[in-house]
Amino acid sequence: MLNEKSLFESLIWLWMFIAVVTFSSLFRITAPYGRHQRQGWGPLIPSWAAWMLMEAPSLFILVLCFVVQPPALPGAWVFLGLWVLHYTNRTFIYPLRNPSGQTPMPLVICGSAILFNVVNGYLNGRSLTLFGPQYDWSWFAKPLTVLGLLLWVAGLCINLQADRLLLALRRPGETGYQVPYGGLYRFVSCPNYFGELLEWIGFAVAAASPAAWSFAAWTAANLVPRALAHHRWYRARFIDYPPERKALVPFLF
Ligand SMILES: NC(=O)c1ccc[n+]([C@@H]2O[C@H](COP(=O)([O-])OP(=O)(O)OC[C@H]3O[C@@H](n4cnc5c(N)ncnc54)[C@H](OP(=O)(O)O)[C@@H]3O)[C@@H](O)[C@H]2O)c1
Repeated sequence: MLNEKSLFESLIWLWMFIAVVTFSSLFRITAPYGRHQRQGWGPLIPSWAAWMLMEAPSLFILVLCFVVQPPALPGAWVFLGLWVLHYTNRTFIYPLRNPSGQTPMPLVICGSAILFNVVNGYLNGRSLTLFGPQYDWSWFAKPLTVLGLLLWVAGLCINLQADRLLLALRRPGETGYQVPYGGLYRFVSCPNYFGELLEWIGFAVAAASPAAWSFAAWTAANLVPRALAHHRWYRARFIDYPPERKALVPFLF
């Protein structure tokens, strides 16, 4: 008989498969928002509203999972804390920093991101509270958990700093692009994406669940092709673009 656990397990493998398909597709079709926005993708909405609508499901569904089914052991709350910290910034703080300086976003991108965040929030929420590993305090004494948490914190700091440096490039109402400098922009074109990737790889290493790894896979699927597209765009747009800068991972690519 079908029960939620078997549906949950099937959904995770399907979800990982879709991440792989998305990864290869995004090398051919760059998601049409921000500098890659183009005609033919339907109506637009203000970017600040899109970010709030897109990211809120991840935050609220995870919290809802903890309310509906509080985890048996206390360690899962630590992972909830990391999630809430990240998504409070992404849902409420990030969109309201210089809202007039962001390119409007196609509704179709916002809609697909809402769908992604609903599934991702459900999978990680149910994994942390019911279907995934049981996190007692001894879980946090494992070297891999400590490594994962350190990666997550480093990723968050890199992501926040990189986003702050980007948003500071425009005064309210300005919409042009400049070459960013400072922080990890010394090494890569997209340290915000590098930080985000580190965060969710760290989360997956620490939580050690298929759901968390599926999120890390989706983050790579979205951000690796996009970082390469940003990098090509910078090089084509600015003739004096620093030649030693890589796209995403310092010293590698
Ligand atoms: N976990 C995931 O799968 C995932 C997916 C997507 C994004 N994110 C995260 O969400 C955040 C935003 O993502 P994004 O794709 O919008 O990042 P982005 O392309 O780097 O843009 C971030 C913001 O900075 C502005 N900007 C970018 N480069 C600029 C430049 N050279 N000069 C002036 N302004 C510049 C952009 O304006 P425009 O909008 O006008 O280009 C936008 O408002 C990042 O922290 C990213 O890591 C996560």
